[in-house]
Amino acid sequence: MVQLDHKQNIRICGINLNHWYVVASSSEVKNEPVAIELWYEKIVLFRDSQGIVKALDDRCPHRQVKLSEGKIVENNIECAYHGWRFNEQGECSFVPYLQEKQKLPNCKLKTYPVQELDGFIWLFSGEEDSENIKPMGLPEWDHLNYIGSMATIDCPAHFSYLIENLMDMYHGHLHDNYQAWAQASLKEISNDSQSVDVLYEAQSYYRIDKIWSISQLFFPALRKLHPEPLTVTYDYPHWRSTLGKDFKIYCLFCPINETETKAYLVHFTSLQAFWRLHKLPVWFRRLIKNSVFGAANGLLKGLIEQDIAMIKQEQEAFETNSSRRNYELNPAIAKVQELIQTQLYKSGK
Ligand code: FES
Ligand SMILES: [Fe+2]
Repeated sequence: MVQLDHKQNIRICGINLNHWYVVASSSEVKNEPVAIELWYEKIVLFRDSQGIVKALDDRCPHRQVKLSEGKIVENNIECAYHGWRFNEQGECSFVPYLQEKQKLPNCKLKTYPVQELDGFIWLFSGEEDSENIKPMGLPEWDHLNYIGSMATIDCPAHFSYLIENLMDMYHGHLHDNYQAWAQASLKEISNDSQSVDVLYEAQSYYRIDKIWSISQLFFPALRKLHPEPLTVTYDYPHWRSTLGKDFKIYCLFCPINETETKAYLVHFTSLQAFWRLHKLPVWFRRLIKNSVFGAANGLLKGLIEQDIAMIKQEQEAFETNSSRRNYELNPAIAKVQELIQTQLYKSGK
């Protein structure tokens, strides 16, 4: 295990930027520039005329104002202040008041590798070659047998609090009615320098095997507890989980700074059990998939609200007195902290 000195408390630990981080959902980036922030770096996202997402430093080199407050003009981003334009390579391509003998300034903005995959914008800000590193991806996003839901998390805390919350299934206590499972019990942990896998056994409330299974969401009396494996994985820097064969859930991370974390929670319900459905034409299955997208959004928002209320207090308590130590009984948490530290060490920071 990599040891941090006393100043490098896990609650102020940096991130390894040599990974693909999720900085926006695809639907958030339309025709206007979008400002995002990944670990103290302010970046502007925009789509070119082909709809391909580009990422540049969000800073006009003329006077250091935000380019994201400007607009897109013919594949270039135009600063709101004096109208200088910058192309996708980050070069100044146009100054509206350039005199005859003047040349365009040779400033160059930092560009970032960025890609759109499975409903999200993934960005790479590290020094390693992004081509050699794969984004995690969400194979269920386009798969016709999965119904998706999504909610954003604006977490006013260091990312370590959020990932610990997601890896510690003993906090089902907090969620009560919202939770799809109960009585989690840790069975196995495995880890390496990239990930931590934890297997819990839990009692699931929902069984998705009948066409009316959805009604269990609204009528608690229809829910019957039955044992299912519950897995949670910290696939650094993101998180995924499965409950039996019916549910998959992801949390896609964008740590903003030491005290703010943005994330996307994406939930999938499987329709694998409905073999009759699979025989329907693809266009119809896609129509079903799209029209019920977001069915569990309310549920996700409820869970997030409860989690964030606790995490906010953890962060505040740390800021009030950073020397108080926690009493931890779940061994998965130590593994999560170890991975955060190992990844930071690997990044060379
Ligand atoms: S500050 Fe951007 S063009 Fe002047
Ligand atoms: Fe939770």
